[in-house]
Order: sequence, then C-alpha cells, then structure tokens
Amino acid sequence: MSERTDSVSLPRKLWNENHIKKYFFPSEPIPRLPCSDPMAQELISQEKPVVLTDTHLCDSALKWDLEYLSENMGSEKYMVYASKSSRFKYWDQAKVKLHCQDFVPPTQRVDMTFPDFVTKLRDWKPGDDRLYLQQGLNNTVGHAIVVDFLQFNWQWLNIQQKKNNWGPLTSNLLLVGMEGNTTPVHYDEQQNFFAQLVGYKRCILFSPDHYDKLYPHPVFHPHDRQSQVDFDNPDFERFSRLNEVRAVEAVVGPMDVLYIPMYWWHHIESLPELGHTISVNFWYKGGPTEKIDYPLAPRQKLAVLRNVEKMLLDALKDPAELGHLLRALVIGRYMDTEQDTGTG
Ligand code: OGA
Ligand code: ZN
Repeated sequence: MSERTDSVSLPRKLWNENHIKKYFFPSEPIPRLPCSDPMAQELISQEKPVVLTDTHLCDSALKWDLEYLSENMGSEKYMVYASKSSRFKYWDQAKVKLHCQDFVPPTQRVDMTFPDFVTKLRDWKPGDDRLYLQQGLNNTVGHAIVVDFLQFNWQWLNIQQKKNNWGPLTSNLLLVGMEGNTTPVHYDEQQNFFAQLVGYKRCILFSPDHYDKLYPHPVFHPHDRQSQVDFDNPDFERFSRLNEVRAVEAVVGPMDVLYIPMYWWHHIESLPELGHTISVNFWYKGGPTEKIDYPLAPRQKLAVLRNVEKMLLDALKDPAELGHLLRALVIGRYMDTEQDTGTG
C-alpha cells in the first residue's frame, strides 16, 4: 500500500484490502478533506479531484436502502443494464443507429420496476447476468424521494456552482449496483459531484493529459468517451503508451462526495462490503472559458481533437473514410517529435 500524506485522512470504516485488485499502472491516493479546508476549495477550483468528507450533501438519502427505495421510488420502470461480465461499458444507442449498425452491445437494457430489480438482486446466483440500475432522478419518483431530494444540501451546491463558475445542474443519476460491477474507464463532458450513499466504491481517476494514453474510441462510435483499453487485459502492443498511465484513486463510502472534474478519466468498481452499492451524482455543465492560455491545457486539446474528428466526419459523411484520411495526414509527415515542434 502506498504511504498516505498528512492531508489524507482515512474513511471511517476500512474496506477489505484484499478486494483491491492490482492493475498495471501506479496510483496515488486522492486527498480526503473536510469541505471547509481551503485546500479542498483550491483543488476544486483547479479542477483536481478531491474526496469531501463533510458536505452533508445527501444526508437525507443515507437511509435509501433497497427496501426504502422499493417502497418509495414509484411504480415506473427504471433503466437497468444487464451484463454477462462484471463490466458495464456505456454505449450510445443513437450512434449505433447512425454509424455502427453491426455493433454488438456489451450490455442490454432490461428496464424494470424497483421492486422487481430488488427481487432479482436477492435471487441472483453466479452465472446469472449482472444488473446495474442507472436512472436519472426525475418527476416519476415517489413523494418521499422528492422530499429527501429537496433536503439535499443545495446551499453548498449552489455556492460551489457560483464559485467555480459552472453552468446549470443537468441531471442526477441514481446508481444501484451489485458488488463487483465495474464501470470501465471513460470521461464525461460535465463536472461531477459523486455522492456515495451505501456501500463502498473504488474510484480510479486519470488526468485529462491521458487523452493520448488511454486510447478513446472514435467520437462517432457508440463507445465515444470510453477507453478501448481493458484494464483486466491490457494490450501493450496495440496501445503503446499504456506504460505512461498514472492514476489517482480513492475508496468512497457513505457520506463521501468525490469531485470528478470534467474530462478526467474514471473507472469505478463496486466493492463487496455490502453486496450492493448506492450512489447519486450531480452533473453540471462546465463554465464558459474565460481566457485561453497557450499552450492549451490537456482538456482543451482533448476538446479540439473531438472537434477535428467531428468536422472530418461531417465533411466525409462516412466514418469508414475517416481512418484513411487521418493516416494520410500523419504517416510519414507528423511521425516524430522534431517535426511536431517544427524544428525538424
Ligand atoms: C459517473 C460514473 C459510474 C459508476 O458518475 O460519471 O461514471 O459506476 N459513474 O458509479
Ligand atoms: Zn462517468
């Protein structure tokens, strides 16, 4: 285990270290700080991850166990994903229809009511599909959930939103997962306060400068924003910069809020302390860029690259043509660092 610095306090309950898998990259702990600590504020304003221990963001939701949610979520069917493996790699239905009709989805949507979901969790046995409920909190949820939601620490959130010049809150995703479920490494184009309610999650983050080390799928692909790299089976030959990957990580438990800055890559695993985990996230639009400094920050380079890919596709119409043109642009022309810097 790595040394922890003074500024890093441990969560109240220790999870079982045996459940922490070893991956191919080194990692450092994400600082755990009370939100009154000026360092915590500094990290958020610099768009660096931090675990906040005393935001009281979702105290009213700490009682959201499976029974309470069954009784109070309402009778709607909610979004549940099923997977044959422990990986739940996100895919975008719209992009399947548009560009990738022979795409084979790694997970299936099997929407169901909350009580049905809980019954399936209770009856689950090895060999069955794993399930992960990922439902935006919307106006279909029952009254008691709305009351709890209104008691979230909106005051603290609103202060953060203003201080950091973020855009509006776009959504709150409720995540109820089985132990062992993994959300493979990806980035989101939003700021995220990730509140852990029940059980423990291991969150491994990578800075946006990993845009050229984690090999995202092309932007038109259903797995846009997801890395092509399988952490359990890394292909070092195909992905030659994987040995440069450096992570930061934290295990979050009840009451913890992890700030996942926009464009930071993240991989999230449900640890087996309770059999399941429950989290709620708060996604905010990023703020307008005030002043652009050069060289561009890695997250800005990532955004530029996304736009180049989108523009090329817009011009060519056919994603199958993109690779050829991009290779023609690079191979034999922009191959080594001397030429990259214009000094060759
Ligand atoms: C997120 C996210 C996945 C998970 O909140 O952005 O990727 O399994 N969550 O909690
Ligand atoms: Zn995410």
